[in-house]
Amino acid sequence: MENATQVLNETFKNDVHTGLSASSKFLASKYFYDKIGDALFVKIMNMPEYYLTRAEYDIFKNKTQDLITKLNLNQDTDFDLIELGAGDGTKTKALLKVLSAQQYQYTYTPIDISKNALAHLERQLAVELPEVKVHPKEGDYFNVLETIKSSTKPKVILFLGSNIGNLKDNEAAYFMEKLSASINSKDKIVLGVDLIKSEALVLPAYNDAQGITRQFNLNILQRINNELDANFDLEAFTHDPEYTEAEGIAKSYLKSRKAQDVHIKTLNKTFHFKKDERIHTEISRKYNDSILHAIIKDTPLVVLDKLTDRNAYFADYILEKV
Ligand code: AVJ
Repeated sequence: MENATQVLNETFKNDVHTGLSASSKFLASKYFYDKIGDALFVKIMNMPEYYLTRAEYDIFKNKTQDLITKLNLNQDTDFDLIELGAGDGTKTKALLKVLSAQQYQYTYTPIDISKNALAHLERQLAVELPEVKVHPKEGDYFNVLETIKSSTKPKVILFLGSNIGNLKDNEAAYFMEKLSASINSKDKIVLGVDLIKSEALVLPAYNDAQGITRQFNLNILQRINNELDANFDLEAFTHDPEYTEAEGIAKSYLKSRKAQDVHIKTLNKTFHFKKDERIHTEISRKYNDSILHAIIKDTPLVVLDKLTDRNAYFADYILEKV
């Protein structure tokens, strides 16, 4: 019998096999997020160096009215507020609070693949904002969007937190194209992106002094040990992040401290690492107007506005489907 977990595990196994067999080794950043990885990311968001979450919260907290005005909502028309990725809800709650106080009629639909994250958010909202109608949906973003595509209610899609940053530009363009195909003319997207700025600001966000990001990066090896029966020695790899302002992409690697072999039992295979050989694990793309425009140029989306935090570190673009 095959269940969803076994299928996911098989995909993980194949992806690890492919990534570690490549001449430039790589592992996909989506594999950071098991239970431990989720908890480490929450810790990262609280690190003093990780400005992204605070910057976007500043926009949602202090430019709420701008955001609502730019979304051009109608107080008498019911709309769907759909969030891709449930997050911890802190930013979104600031918006929900004001929308409800101003008598807007809407349903809040967080979409996430984690049942746990959704249940947690739902409980929290029931206590803090009991007046908000919440209809969480569990699953893959596009599968869920497919099920609500037929609804003719106006939609506002939130895709926050620089989550798009993990995608290469061509993948981001494809993602935005698919997203625009699942909404209707006049529907809006709020896209949260981190902005290109100096190495002195960006690099520490991916290399915090307390070493939480290091643990987060290394957790991918721990997962391979746990789930694929491997013998990675986590102490034998270092966290090696990179960023240049010219490129605008933070990159994370795991670097082998020495020549070593790692055996993965479920693959029945041994992988060799040269001293200083790296495994690429993540990109975090930073944006500016021209990159954003290049990404949406072949989609039916246009930029209505851009809100930035007080330091202009982060932006929420408001996009509309024409
Ligand atoms: C969740 C993709 C927004 O790239 O900034 C944080 C993940 N990686 N520190 C980011 C992450 C290392 C984060 N995103």
